[in-house]
Amino acid sequence: MPSPDAAKKREAPSLKSPSSLFPYAVFLTLIILFLSSTFLTSPASPPPPPPKEKVSRSCNLFDGRWVRDPETRKPMYDETCPFHRNAWNCLRNQRENMVTINSWRWVPKGCSLDRIDPVRFLGLMRNKNIGFVGDSLNENFLVSFLCILRAADAGAKKWKRKGAWRGAHFPKFNVTVAYHRAVLLAKYEWQPKEPTLAEGQGSKGFYRVDVDVPADDWAHINDFYDVLVFNTGHWWGSDKFPEETPLVFYQAGRPIFPPLKMLDGLRIVLENMVLHIQRKIPNKTLKFWRLQSPRHFHGGDWNQNGSCLFNEPLLDSQLDMWFDPSNNGVNKEARLLNDLIEGTLRGSDIQLLDLTHLSEYRADAHPAIWLGKKDAVAVWGQDCMHWCLPGVPDTWVDILSQLIRHGLERQ
Ligand SMILES: *[C@@H]1O[C@H](CO)[C@@H](O)[C@H](O)[C@H]1NC(C)=O
Ligand SMILES: *[C@@H]1O[C@H](CO)[C@@H](O)[C@H](O)[C@H]1NC(C)=O
Ligand SMILES: *[C@@H]1O[C@H](CO)[C@@H](O)[C@H](O)[C@H]1NC(C)=O
Repeated sequence: MPSPDAAKKREAPSLKSPSSLFPYAVFLTLIILFLSSTFLTSPASPPPPPPKEKVSRSCNLFDGRWVRDPETRKPMYDETCPFHRNAWNCLRNQRENMVTINSWRWVPKGCSLDRIDPVRFLGLMRNKNIGFVGDSLNENFLVSFLCILRAADAGAKKWKRKGAWRGAHFPKFNVTVAYHRAVLLAKYEWQPKEPTLAEGQGSKGFYRVDVDVPADDWAHINDFYDVLVFNTGHWWGSDKFPEETPLVFYQAGRPIFPPLKMLDGLRIVLENMVLHIQRKIPNKTLKFWRLQSPRHFHGGDWNQNGSCLFNEPLLDSQLDMWFDPSNNGVNKEARLLNDLIEGTLRGSDIQLLDLTHLSEYRADAHPAIWLGKKDAVAVWGQDCMHWCLPGVPDTWVDILSQLIRHGLERQ
């Protein structure tokens, strides 16, 4: 894929010499360039990064606006990418408007966001690995990442090993990018009801959550990854864990008393998982925490015919109406959980990946009714939570890859 730089270099001005001295000037310049590159640069020093890549540290990539840019903003993969999950493969499922959905470019305020260059990025990551840990919204992120990186290495192979849910290895660069499914991050287990248990612990049974024990699927990743991206949040609701089958929190192997409400349980789990990460994951590993992905159910929740058949991103003026907790709408939980997560991460070396705000605009970019299976909507409702691929997560990849690059250059 040609980079914009390459295009610029090709359109160099034509050499119309204004004077007969011009050829000598060119010759002299070449000599000087040759001498300086031969004698002045030590072979060990790395080439300086192109100036375009330098972005000030204070630059906030998460604040900005979406701009229509159909000329330059084209997806880097299509429906044939082997890493797709069927329900998110909106091209194959023939979602309407896919060209328009992918014509929007995120423009941060006061700084530049570069599109990922898969060859350069994988070159930088050579012999390194990237891991995602969390729920299906991180898996959505992973699939976008894999399909984009595949542009640089068509030999990419599915990768699986104990504890990893799914991923890919890029043999040209010896890079593995993988996802560990751990929806609550902490270990949890179904406990069927026993006659001896007191009432109030669920009518059918309950889920025991060990707040201080990471789920097996990522507990032993140790130093395998050089970059890690965590998330949790989308499962911490009464739709996943209703009153008849609630979460019951345990610490040091004993039930916490008095029992915690769900969000208090989340706070304690977050505190413990952050402690675990700080103790067990090497300091040099770049760590990110991805904030909530907003949902866009309009006119009802996911199980009440909530719908997201939109053609355009939301306007600035609409966001609070959809997402501000004070409006008590069906999509309020992203901002609520973000406050809690941000509070818990303060003081750790885990960087916030605040993809919430930019995604809040994109009511137009979910799979909605195009789930690729007949009757899926009748059973599950529309999907206004995950994202079409190609789509919004491709912008998440641009942002994450830029932050990884800066992080590695600083080390
Ligand atoms: C591939 O990368 C891993 C680190 O992730 C390293 O241990 C291994 O030696 C590398 N393999 C090759 C062939 O360079
Ligand atoms: C990280 O660095 C701190 C302070 O230097 C040290 O106490 C801690 O043990 C290190 N953690 C790991 C996992 O190496
Ligand atoms: C959803 O829509 C269907 C078909 O229009 C209707 O039968 C059903 O009652 C609706 N459900 C809710 C919860 O509104």
